[in-house]
Amino acid sequence: PTLLILWAVIGYLLGSIPFGMVLTRAMGLGNLRDIGSGNIGATNVLRTGSKKAAALTLLLDGGKGAVAVLLARAMAGEDAAQIAGLTAMLGHCYPVWLRFRGGKGVATYIGLVLALAWPVGLAVCATWLAVAAIGRTSSLAALVAAALSTFWMVLLGEGQALVMGAILTLLIFWRHRDNITRLRAGTETRIGQK
Ligand code: G3P
Repeated sequence: PTLLILWAVIGYLLGSIPFGMVLTRAMGLGNLRDIGSGNIGATNVLRTGSKKAAALTLLLDGGKGAVAVLLARAMAGEDAAQIAGLTAMLGHCYPVWLRFRGGKGVATYIGLVLALAWPVGLAVCATWLAVAAIGRTSSLAALVAAALSTFWMVLLGEGQALVMGAILTLLIFWRHRDNITRLRAGTETRIGQK
């Protein structure tokens, strides 16, 4: 249990690095809190107009989830990998550095699922891309991809990740509650729209 707690802390610390915030500041693109949804994720970084910053944010926010899982797995096994992935999401959504006002977890979730069970990760990516291509709305694509991720886990024989997938899907829905309100009202912004 001490080992699991250690990996929980490492996962949290990795997840809590707010790459979107750091990059936009470093690149002189302004304060994300004053832009679009005010969120720290790649979708909102894109609203600064910099595709490069958005792509980097996506990559790094996904990467930290993957690294948490892969490190924990290599050094302490599968249980530690799941715990580290879970706490990486908590770190991203509730980072101590931003007074616990973090992101919505989509990129980090995709990264950690790719590392935990890559076929499921690819299926989740494909779902996001398909829904985004049709609806041009990041939040909708994220909600559908997150909800279907548990379905993919069962279908692709990765049932061991199911409980974690269900918890993280609920977390993603909870973090998107403002988006859900906007989607229902028909006022949600499209990808790239300011
Ligand atoms: O990944 C976050 C995305 O689903 C929504 O972002 O900035 O439109 O609230 P945003």
